Amino acid sequence: MTIPVRPETDHKIDDLLSRFPMRGSALLPALYLVQEEKGHVSDESMEYVASKIGVSPAFVAGVVSFYTMFHRRPVGRHHIQVCRTLPCALSGSDTLMAHLKARLGIGDGEKRADGKVSLASVECLGACDRAPFIQINEREHGPVDGTKMDEILKGLE
Ligand code: FES
Repeated sequence: MTIPVRPETDHKIDDLLSRFPMRGSALLPALYLVQEEKGHVSDESMEYVASKIGVSPAFVAGVVSFYTMFHRRPVGRHHIQVCRTLPCALSGSDTLMAHLKARLGIGDGEKRADGKVSLASVECLGACDRAPFIQINEREHGPVDGTKMDEILKGLE
């Protein structure tokens, strides 16, 4: 199998595996390392991580699709995730999403051609008391309305 990551990343994953008594415990940090290098987790990367850990690619795919911090496709420099789960939906996340689509000129799951931003609706981000809630890369914002969203967008480089 061709190794789809740089040798340094491969070594870091070997190091992780040597430190965890159960290989499966290294799965999330290994996926982080791959995503840090590649920007997303491709099918090829999932197969590679699965073989390193000793689990099936389907198991890895299940983990990657469960956690919103893993990206299956390349995302923009600023990846905007809008919560669509009930408390946020009742607080206007669909209106906020429509506002973002219009402002950014992209749809749900898309990246702008200049690579600056990408947009995705996701399930609960764990801050339902701050609905409607969004996350941009590692930064959290909520509650966010159209006006606040415009201020946040202005601050993005
Ligand atoms: S429902 Fe939106 S953060 Fe939980």
